[in-house]
Amino acid sequence: MPEAGVPALRPIRRALSGALFASIAIGAGAAPAAGEAGAPPAAERPAVALGRRLFFDRALSEPAGTSCASCHDPARAFSGNNGAAIGVARGSRPGHFARRNTPSVLYLKYVPRFHYYQEEDAPLPSAFGGFFWDGRADSIAALVRQPLLNPDEMNNRDARQIAGKLRAGGYAADFQSALGASLDDPDAALAALGRALEAYLTSPAMAPFASKYDAYVRGRAVLAPDEALGLKLFRDPDKGNCASCHHLTVSSPTPERSMFTDYGYDAVAAPRNRKLPATRRADAFDLGLCERTDKQVPSRDEKWCASFRTPSLRNVAVRPAFMHNGTFNDLRDVVAFYGTRATDPFRWYKSRVKFDDVPAKWRGQVNVNAIPYNRRAGDTPALDDREIDAIVAFLRTLTDAAYLAAAPVPARH
Ligand code: HEC
Ligand code: HEC
Repeated sequence: MPEAGVPALRPIRRALSGALFASIAIGAGAAPAAGEAGAPPAAERPAVALGRRLFFDRALSEPAGTSCASCHDPARAFSGNNGAAIGVARGSRPGHFARRNTPSVLYLKYVPRFHYYQEEDAPLPSAFGGFFWDGRADSIAALVRQPLLNPDEMNNRDARQIAGKLRAGGYAADFQSALGASLDDPDAALAALGRALEAYLTSPAMAPFASKYDAYVRGRAVLAPDEALGLKLFRDPDKGNCASCHHLTVSSPTPERSMFTDYGYDAVAAPRNRKLPATRRADAFDLGLCERTDKQVPSRDEKWCASFRTPSLRNVAVRPAFMHNGTFNDLRDVVAFYGTRATDPFRWYKSRVKFDDVPAKWRGQVNVNAIPYNRRAGDTPALDDREIDAIVAFLRTLTDAAYLAAAPVPARH
């Protein structure tokens, strides 16, 4: 039964330990790049300005026309799929699509490095952090080569081709003055491009904390009754239980304590997205965390198959598609999926195979223990229609002021 009043936040699944916060503070994005430590803030600004120009430069794809911002659309809080309606992003060439749904690149400076953390009462350590849905990259500076060189995204052939484009774009003087980097050596140029983009993506403008929720925790706004009910259900360990993964600290006036993720991993079993070309092959699956190939901090163990990094829900209402495979395009459906996945599974798994986007041998790893999933088919759902609407109303308070116009008005049920 839900407790009366706003229930206390119980750290149910994972303790948000001092260790996690410490690791956020020294997170990959937050750590200064080598050589930048101790640099005065004024020296950083040219790199941020350069990074911003590069982020929006459509000449950096092959053929030209696709910038970072084509997929990470500033009008949609830096999420989006470059106009594709199937749930994953269109690349620079017709008929080519990124493998996954495009996440927002706001608030990335809070993403910790990939690591394991052992909770006192847990049988096994849990995985946290890293960039991408599967945590396979440890820094923004290093990861940008992936979209630039991916044939399904920006499709450059190699570092030499990218360096040539930077020189032709007249960037040489800016790279020299902002980063002390020359564009003559292609690998050094690509590394410097990464540092500039990282400077931009981790700059204060990319973590605005300007939502109604932020004003609320700062004591400067009041939630409407449906939003307040949604917040209560979102936190209530017996109802939505969302906050056990999408972590928040309502009692803290510091919005950084409410990132709406603990950067952990979970197997939520989003339904298979049959609009994706990759799903034409019945044996093609995206396994998430266990596909990560890092050798220093490995995650190849099969127990990590089907787990994806918990996304921040900041600005979630302006995303065109949801989940790593973009299977949903209506936020209300995502919340209804959580509320009824256990009680009415075939409303979501149209193939009539439960957890149909997870290979059969790993379906047992799907989380069926946490509320709201821990029910049986035919039971009363964990959330009714009014409660689902309230959670959606609350999620809409996470939209930063600049993107409110892009948030579609939800349909009432
Ligand atoms: C064709 C669409 C597309 C383009 C162009 C693109 N991205 Fe992405 N971006 C994605 C997708 C899809 C993902 C998720 C990939 C994954 O998880 O495997 C992503 C993920 C990221 C992430 C990780 C976010 C997180 O939460 O971990 C960063 C950072 C990023 N992109 C930056 C960039 C930069 C910088 C550029 C330009 C050099 C760029 N992207 C160009 C589609 C794109
Ligand atoms: C056990 C951890 C866990 C719980 C509990 C949980 N989530 Fe999630 N959430 C995740 C993970 C992991 C994903 C990514 C799943 C994927 O892409 O396959 C996710 C994805 C989402 C997304 C899609 C975001 C995007 O950018 O695509 C929304 C919306 C969401 N969750 C809302 C909720 C709500 C509302 C609740 C409570 C009813 C909730 N979550 C409970 C872990 C959790």
